[in-house]
Amino acid sequence: MANEKQFRLRTKFIATRNVTEYRQTIPEWVNEDDTVLEIGCEWGTTTVLIAPHCREVVGTDVSLECIERARRKHPHLTFEVLDAFDVRAALDLGRRFTKVYIDISGLSGYRSLLDVIALSTMYATVLRPEAIIVKSGALKHFASCCTPWRATRAREARRKGTANDA
Ligand SMILES: C[S@@+](CC[C@H](N)C(=O)[O-])C[C@H]1O[C@@H](n2cnc3c(N)ncnc32)[C@H](O)[C@@H]1O
Repeated sequence: MANEKQFRLRTKFIATRNVTEYRQTIPEWVNEDDTVLEIGCEWGTTTVLIAPHCREVVGTDVSLECIERARRKHPHLTFEVLDAFDVRAALDLGRRFTKVYIDISGLSGYRSLLDVIALSTMYATVLRPEAIIVKSGALKHFASCCTPWRATRAREARRKGTANDA
């Protein structure tokens, strides 16, 4: 069946409400084998917290001013200018990113939900990281309202022929 064969994302999405939650995920989700991309790093405050947990982290931001300040504050880390919506440029960073952190201005409000989903899905499809951690209250709220339907009990009953079809 065509549906069975179609491409499915395997990336996990972790939605956090604020910067405290965003940073709390680091010891849970980042490990020593990871190469991490941070999108929207500003002055590198979270980048520097991620660094000790992984093999390599690259902090990126659309603002050259932020990147220059991040480089001055943390000269031992790598920072590059990147517009989050230019995924091709993220590929050109030349790493196989296993985790992606996203915290860009304007992605928290409820009306930004579709943008957050579109951006996260684009990174999941192109970079195929194991996990994308996003700071977005909108996504967290939406995720908390979602329950994937699993028809296990109904399927099991059908298999055993004990389904009540009345
Ligand atoms: C809230 S700050 C990030 C704070 C940082 N993650 C931290 O934990 O300290 C949001 C950042 O998103 C950046 N930003 C906004 N639009 C962006 C875009 N399209 N691509 C990349 N960065 C963007 C801003 O320049 C700003 O530095």
